[in-house]
This record gives sequence, C-alpha cells and structure tokens, in this order.
Amino acid sequence: MSVAAVAAPDNQTELQQMYAAIQAKSMFPFWARNSDVEHDEIKQLMEGPKPIPYRWSYATDIAPLLEQSARLVTTENTDRRSLILVNPGLAPRRATVSTMYTAYRQNDPNEVMPPHKHTASAIRFGLTGKQNFTGVEGEDITFGPGDLVLTPRDTWHNHGNTGDEPAINLSVLDYPLVESLNALQFSHDYREDGEYKRKQSARFPTEYSAMVYGSGGLLPRFVDHVRGGGDSSPMYVYRYEPMRELLHRHRDWSENPHEGLLIEYVHPVRGGPVYKTMTFFMQMVRPGEKTLPVKQTANLLVAPFEGAGKAYIDDQAFDLAPFDTLAIPGDCWTSYENTSRSEPLILFVASDEPALSSFGLLQRWGKTESGDVIRLA
Ligand SMILES: [Fe+2]
Repeated sequence: MSVAAVAAPDNQTELQQMYAAIQAKSMFPFWARNSDVEHDEIKQLMEGPKPIPYRWSYATDIAPLLEQSARLVTTENTDRRSLILVNPGLAPRRATVSTMYTAYRQNDPNEVMPPHKHTASAIRFGLTGKQNFTGVEGEDITFGPGDLVLTPRDTWHNHGNTGDEPAINLSVLDYPLVESLNALQFSHDYREDGEYKRKQSARFPTEYSAMVYGSGGLLPRFVDHVRGGGDSSPMYVYRYEPMRELLHRHRDWSENPHEGLLIEYVHPVRGGPVYKTMTFFMQMVRPGEKTLPVKQTANLLVAPFEGAGKAYIDDQAFDLAPFDTLAIPGDCWTSYENTSRSEPLILFVASDEPALSSFGLLQRWGKTESGDVIRLA
C-alpha cells in the first residue's frame, strides 16, 4: 500500500512540510509511491544524471575550436590547454562517460609545458604531427599518429611539441572515477636536487620502453620493472606500426563476429590491462563487415583512427570518421559497420573494464545472427 493511499487528505499539509524538512536537512525520502503521484522518488532516483550515447565530430566540432584555442590561449596564459568532451547527460560534470573523459590538445611548434603529476591515470594518443612530446618519469617520448603514450597515476609528466609544425593528440583520463572516489591530488612543484625545474632531465635512454619491452614474449631481467606507482605498465609508449602490422596480419581471421579484430595493449610483465582502472584496444572492422551487437556494463570511448563507417547504438546510428570521439555508455547494444569495400575501419577504444571487473561488475552479452542473446563475459 502506498504512502499516498495511507495519507488522509487532512495530512497533506503535514506531508508537504515533512518533504520540505527532509530536503532542507539534506536527506532523500526513499520509499515507494504510486508512479503517477507528485513525489515518485524511485522514478526520481532512476532519472538522475545518466550519460547518453554521443558523437563529437573531429572535422566540424573539435578541429575548429582546437585551432582557435591554440591561437587565443598561449602557454604564457596557462600551462594547460585542453578541450574536454562533456557528455550532455552528465553536464556540467567533466566526464565523457561516467568514469573517463577524453580531451583534445593542440600543441604549437616548440612549446613544452612544465611537469606535473596527479592521481588520475592518463594516456595520450597521437593524431597529427610527428613530434608530440611527453616526458614521463625521465623518459623523453616523441610520438606521432597512432602511438599510445602512458602517463600512469603519480608519474611526473610534461606535454608539448618539439617539432616545427602543430601537433594534435587526444588524452583519455580516469579523472571522473578518481574524482568520484574523492582521491584526486595534483602536484606542480617538480624538483631535481631540491631545485624547481620547468623540464625533467632525461634519466633513461631514448626509446627505453621499446628497448626493454619491444620484443613480445621476451623480458629482460636486468632492469627494474617497477616504475611510477608500481601497479601500471612500465612500458610507457606503444608504437602504432607493430599494432597496425598485427591487425593486418590477421585481417582474414573470422572467429569473432562480435568484435571483429580486437587487440589489447597489455602490461608486458604480468599481462592484462595497462592500468587497474582502464584498458585500451585497437579494433579493426574489415571492409564490408558489420559486427554483431554487443552489450556490456563497461563504458567505452571510441575514436576512429583510419577508415570510415557507422556505429549503431541501441536505436541510433552514428557516422564514424577519423579522430571523432564516440561515447558509448554501458548497457547499450552496440555494433559497427565498415561501409568501405576496400579500406579497413580502425578504432582506438578506451574501456573502464578493469575497474568494473575488480568490483565484480563486468558483464557482456552478444546477439546471435538470429537475434538470440548470449552471455559473452
Ligand atoms: Fe597530466
């Protein structure tokens, strides 16, 4: 029996006073009511801020504002200049899906920002320009299109561009998740021998990550594999060329109708994702291929890198073009279609799967050709 049915008409005034008092004292009245009455609290709870599937077009939404921001906001004004994608369902919270955000950055020629560190983990993914620069804990990394660079939690890092042409990259951070846990901390006071420095001194040889971890299946025993906070991948840069080569080598592989070809970036010492909170993939959808729908509890951020096609999320269709970002909240049926007959569609994918997995919340389903739903994970 509902509260509304119990409440006699002459109690209405007192009821309204009680609701006002509950709100004024920062409480929420969580009890079941008829769904058609004014105070339907369960419905209110369910209608709280929720991320929506959303696409930002690189060509029309992002690129013009990046160019303009690089022109109007110089590094003399700020040591950080990023455009964060805000999911319309979560605004004004700075989150592209509930746990992660994507930010785009254009670095002008020869601008390098001072080091900082934070408890959020991040990756940087090169889009344009050959000399994006990130220094991570004394390893200087210059990177170009398709290269993935890690800046794990609590590692000193600085961003910039050491070339003579503008360079654009995107970042993915677990910032909204760490913020939800009230565990965000920042530091900008980078010191060497007690002295503040605007640039880290290199302590590792150029291409250290590739030197030590670049031969798959082989692990040097003569170096310390604990870097940064100790729980993230010690390999700080994953080049695009070996990834692309591996994808193309398997382009006739046809065993997974739900994911096409999906390759994960892994921790080179213990396997598994590079971070405890996020994992990253490249995914190839072959020419003419349409993947079968997948639904999962994990939230995804998808950036097409090569080719073009479409994504179908529940009952919506989204165009996919290079460098766009598509937010795919958990619990949405998703499939991809490569509309080209000759060129592969290659997607860079960020997922909060490790966070969900560690809480026992990761689930994944697929639809078969005939529309039956099967459990995938
Ligand atoms: Fe940072």
